[in-house]
Amino acid sequence: MANNITFVMITPDAIRANYVGPILAMITEAGFRIKAMKYTQLSKQIACQFYAVHKERPFYDELVESMSHPIVVAILEKDNAVEDFRKLIGSNTPTETENETIRKKYASRIGENAIYGSDSEENAQIESNFFFNNLEIF
Ligand code: TYD
Ligand code: MG
Repeated sequence: MANNITFVMITPDAIRANYVGPILAMITEAGFRIKAMKYTQLSKQIACQFYAVHKERPFYDELVESMSHPIVVAILEKDNAVEDFRKLIGSNTPTETENETIRKKYASRIGENAIYGSDSEENAQIESNFFFNNLEIF
């Protein structure tokens, strides 16, 4: 499977804080090319599906609620996209987060962590196909 794309969401907390511009700047400066992008909103039902792997976790309800507000979704292209993008995002846990990561700069806490990036090539394909059709990918 192609290892040169990843799927990303700029999360509602970052939208509210007006961080879309600076986050996109970090993404493009890190060498990712935008293949597709839109401003949209997850319904509760879609948010539940998207985060189904976390269904049994204590933070699931809060996660689904917090994600069902406007978001920016995009497909990014770069060699080794999934892994390189997870590095650019940084960890959810501030003590483990490197300095120049998106979460270090723009996340306020674990449940408001500014950005989502696919965790595997397979999920990058599934998530990209879920949000975009062929006519929307360049
Ligand atoms: P996780 O898959 O661990 O993080 P990542 O986005 O780095 O893959 O968790 C998924 C989302 O769940 C995370 O983006 C934020 C939320 N979350 C919480 O709200 N509280 C928590 O304790 C954890 C672990 C995650
Ligand atoms: Mg994850």
